[in-house]
Amino acid sequence: MEAFVVRGGRRLRGSVRINGAKNSSLILMAAALLTDEPVTLRGVPRLRDTNNMTALLETLGRGFAVQDNAEQAMTARTDDPSRCTAHYDIVRTMRASICVLGPLLAKRGEARVSMPGGCNIGDRPVDLHLHGLRALGARIDLEEGYIVARTDRLRGTRVFLGGPFGSTVLGTANVMSAATLAAGTTVIESAACEPEIEDLAALLTSMGARITGAGSPRITVEGVDELTGADHQVMPDRIEAGTFMLAAAITNGEVTIENCPVDALTATLDRLSAVGVEVESDPAASPQDRMRQTVRVASHRRLEPVQVVTQPHPGFPTDLQAQLMALLCLADGNSIITEKIFPDRFLHVAELSRMGADLTRNGPSVLVSGVKKLIGAPVMASDLRASAGLVLAGLAAQGTTLINRVYHLDRGYESMEVTLRGLGADIERVSVPT
Ligand code: EPU
Repeated sequence: MEAFVVRGGRRLRGSVRINGAKNSSLILMAAALLTDEPVTLRGVPRLRDTNNMTALLETLGRGFAVQDNAEQAMTARTDDPSRCTAHYDIVRTMRASICVLGPLLAKRGEARVSMPGGCNIGDRPVDLHLHGLRALGARIDLEEGYIVARTDRLRGTRVFLGGPFGSTVLGTANVMSAATLAAGTTVIESAACEPEIEDLAALLTSMGARITGAGSPRITVEGVDELTGADHQVMPDRIEAGTFMLAAAITNGEVTIENCPVDALTATLDRLSAVGVEVESDPAASPQDRMRQTVRVASHRRLEPVQVVTQPHPGFPTDLQAQLMALLCLADGNSIITEKIFPDRFLHVAELSRMGADLTRNGPSVLVSGVKKLIGAPVMASDLRASAGLVLAGLAAQGTTLINRVYHLDRGYESMEVTLRGLGADIERVSVPT
């Protein structure tokens, strides 16, 4: 098994270019099932999750082939439109497999998708996905662990997609994608407002779909009879950008971040500013597009404690909660982090405590009492973002941190250790016995 060895204490300096967004790429790739014409996606990051999605789509007769390595461009082509089963073996490796459900159903009239189980960050039900697709007229049964959905043609409708924890990102992607080929108009209320949903709507629109309101809680989709091929550039990864901002901050470093989607990071920038981290856009380098700015992140002074609540977009993202917690461990006072999306997403708390952090969990909240220093220790990565939080803690800690099970990190960060080394970090990937 692979692990990272991090020798902490180096200030990060230099520049990093943000890749295409993992969570956008996954729903865009699934949406390519909605047509049999070629769909090209540019800027798809090379990650375990995108590899798994490629493998899944191949089993569905809609393989993606590399078009241009430098541009990370891939094109989907159909070689067998009769395949409708997303098998357990692949779905269990990646919950995002559920987002083939809506596109398969709408295009091929049938979808059999293995029911995803829980995962390290919580139960993660899919009831809202099924509720939305049933509202569009799908007949859905659970058969031997598989969601089996069928339709002759979906029908447009008005559907409310809010749940106990707010909107659902992949649920909105599923229902919006399926509605593009429904007969009539669909209105999704309490839709997820995440920028990845806007990116998906942009791809679908260039495929001929008629969508308004993406990025707001009410999305309207006028169904069309068929969609065409398209060529689309994936948005930059806001979570990767936020993670490198926090890496700069925790090491008192100074890092320039290119291709940075500042427009999608307002809550993160607000909290960073409250902590005392400087983030400045360079208007000369990127005058127009607020999704592709060049920013300079610097932290030279003491860190102020803050209160943070994770919320659906545009609130503070749950996918940066662990990384922010690592930073606040070193703040000058008491911070409170409340997790409103996945209330049990705190597996990193015990590991950070092993590094000397002073953390008290109370239900969905953690009191983070700032300490003067973190101390390197062997720790166990338990999910993707928790692992990123531990890497950040290791970068700032005194001594050596061994982060086990980095395969979690490889799901969402492209060669993270190489990027960090480029910024001056002392980090290497090693093999350790299981
Ligand atoms: N929920 C339900 N019922 C459903 C679906 C969701 O109750 O049918 C609940 C969830 O349990 C959770 C909340 O609604 O409490 C929000 O979950 P959501 O459905 O929005 O999460 P997701 O779509 O499965 C995506 C990202 C996650 C990210 C969340 C929240 C992808 C592939 N995954 O998951 O990303 O944390 O939105 O922003 O886009 C990650 O990248 O590390 C990651 C976990």
